[in-house]
Amino acid sequence: MAGYHWANDKKSLSLYDLSVIFSRTEIVLIVFSMEKIIRTKVKELLKSEPGHEVVAKGWVRTKRGNKNIAFIALNDGSTINNIQIVAETASFDEDLLKKITTGACICVRGELVASVGSGQAVEIQAKEIGIYGEADPDSYPLQKKGHSMEFLRSIAHLRPRTNTFGAVLRIRHAMAFAIHKYFNDKGFVYLHTPIITASDCEGAGEMFQVTTLDLNNVPKTETGQVDFSRDFFGKQTSLTVSGQLEGELGAMALGEIYTFGPTFRAENSNTPRHLAEFWMIEPEMAFYEIEDNMNLAEDFIKYLVKYALDNCADDIKFLNDMFDKELISRLESVIATDFVRLTYTEGIKILEASGEKFEFPVSWGVDLQSEHERYLVEKHFGKPVIMTDYPKDIKAFYMKQNEDGKTVRGMDVLFPKIGEIIGGSERESSLEKLEARIAELGMGRESLEWYLDTRRFGSAPHSGFGLGFERLLLFVTGMSNIRDVIPFPRTPKNAEY
Ligand code: 4AD
Ligand code: MG
Repeated sequence: MAGYHWANDKKSLSLYDLSVIFSRTEIVLIVFSMEKIIRTKVKELLKSEPGHEVVAKGWVRTKRGNKNIAFIALNDGSTINNIQIVAETASFDEDLLKKITTGACICVRGELVASVGSGQAVEIQAKEIGIYGEADPDSYPLQKKGHSMEFLRSIAHLRPRTNTFGAVLRIRHAMAFAIHKYFNDKGFVYLHTPIITASDCEGAGEMFQVTTLDLNNVPKTETGQVDFSRDFFGKQTSLTVSGQLEGELGAMALGEIYTFGPTFRAENSNTPRHLAEFWMIEPEMAFYEIEDNMNLAEDFIKYLVKYALDNCADDIKFLNDMFDKELISRLESVIATDFVRLTYTEGIKILEASGEKFEFPVSWGVDLQSEHERYLVEKHFGKPVIMTDYPKDIKAFYMKQNEDGKTVRGMDVLFPKIGEIIGGSERESSLEKLEARIAELGMGRESLEWYLDTRRFGSAPHSGFGLGFERLLLFVTGMSNIRDVIPFPRTPKNAEY
């Protein structure tokens, strides 16, 4: 331990310097001196009373100062805020201080003291500094200057080290936790539905195929079709677009379930609101009719937004100040207002009477585009809208059919800035009606017999919905592109990392 004390002396040495002086075994001892001490996270340090020795570890955001003193802003990802390290240059080796550049990873031992400068209550008066990893200023891409979101997307492996992505990723975590808490507190069972499936829940044919067949030598049947009986699962399979159908099986046994997992859509939509791989939360409830479903959806979203405001205040304030000055007021207003409830037919009437020039013209029967949804939410009502009773031809086969023979009991929750954030419905619980609809749409029944069994045996009214996790995050963070609320976005022609 001789080396340890020596490193504690007035002139602190970097590990690199010490390696020149000590034999290898002694170096190992030194590495385990300050480095082995469990650090206190910056978030805790900033809340601590001054007057005791601490060890902090993290990545350097900035270093400034003069020939006598260096101020290092250190961030460890536990909070958006940095801890300030004050180092008297006379007490440290010049070479060591030179290596402390933006992006370098360091550990610091020192006294937590009340800060004389403005901007922070406490700071660390450094006694010892070690360098875990340098970051060459000539090549480290995240220098102090602001970077465009496009540039940061091209370095998605490093962008979590920026304030913006740190904030977004902490909020993403908090929302995931809050989702589980919400449903757990209500007695819902978290059901793990499969990622690989043979059924196309939404019937839109936007599935990524899963196969182990040799694509250069695909086995064919006598009629020249791909012989999927020779494939891994013995049939054609894909990545799931939704866990709903299996979720319904769960609800018809456990009462109330939810899924929360990745879903995949091979839709060629290069928009700020579409991902090829996104996460979806899908509750499914026995004995819920459409009204109950709407009430749950509204309560759920309000709970999540309130949770974010209560638990992610620093991060949300940062995003509000940097990107979207109306973020906090928008979040607060969503919690405080009753969502508008209106039918598709009423919505179309409002849009037709609006006099607005839409890129896609509206008339009864068309699928609403986000420009229409946003007109209703942002301009007409100024609050979220739950739209129901859509034409059956623009919605999936499983939705409960209305008496009019034209519409179904579907519901979409439409949000400011986002458009559709939730899609759901009451489900058709009658076997006859469901069979008739499947036949009408020309869907293959063979892969759905297991699903029809829920209607054959002990069928019950039930409902559910899907919340797009990243769409929720767009709303809560105020980010304007969905690629910026998921760590590693998958979009057409992009599957980096
Ligand atoms: O409206 P969707 O397609 O509904 C379903 O999948 C139902 N099976 C859900 C259910 O009733 N259990 O998708 C639900 C939500 C959308 O409202 C949207 O928020 C999100 O999933 N979503 C996407 N998010 C990002 N990228 C995409 N490509 C998305 N497609 C849908
Ligand atoms: Mg939808």
